Amino acid sequence: MGQYRRHVFVCTIGKTCMAAGGQEVFDVLKKGAATAGLQGVVRINKAGCMNQCGHGPMAVVYPEDVWYSGLDAEKATRILQDHVIGGDPVGQFRYIAPPGDNKLVDDA
Ligand code: FES
Repeated sequence: MGQYRRHVFVCTIGKTCMAAGGQEVFDVLKKGAATAGLQGVVRINKAGCMNQCGHGPMAVVYPEDVWYSGLDAEKATRILQDHVIGGDPVGQFRYIAPPGDNKLVDDA
């Protein structure tokens, strides 16, 4: 077990996720976790490119190692409630791809 019940990384620095709304997804998760009183229990971090460019905004939730793609504020709210708080990953938003780099664009 890590230092947090859940540790979430949201791609906000890579250019395709940022252009697709990564910052908004991060804000929803960060503020939602704080509002739920989970400071020190769950951690929401900004992350650089996860080498899945073009599928974003991307996020990954540990310790379950569940990756999400194509997020927006509404989906982030659902992930916050069901997975980050409730412990139940949201299957319909899951990112399923072969391990490793899965970029759609070359210059991200
Ligand atoms: S910019 Fe988000 S995965 Fe590359």
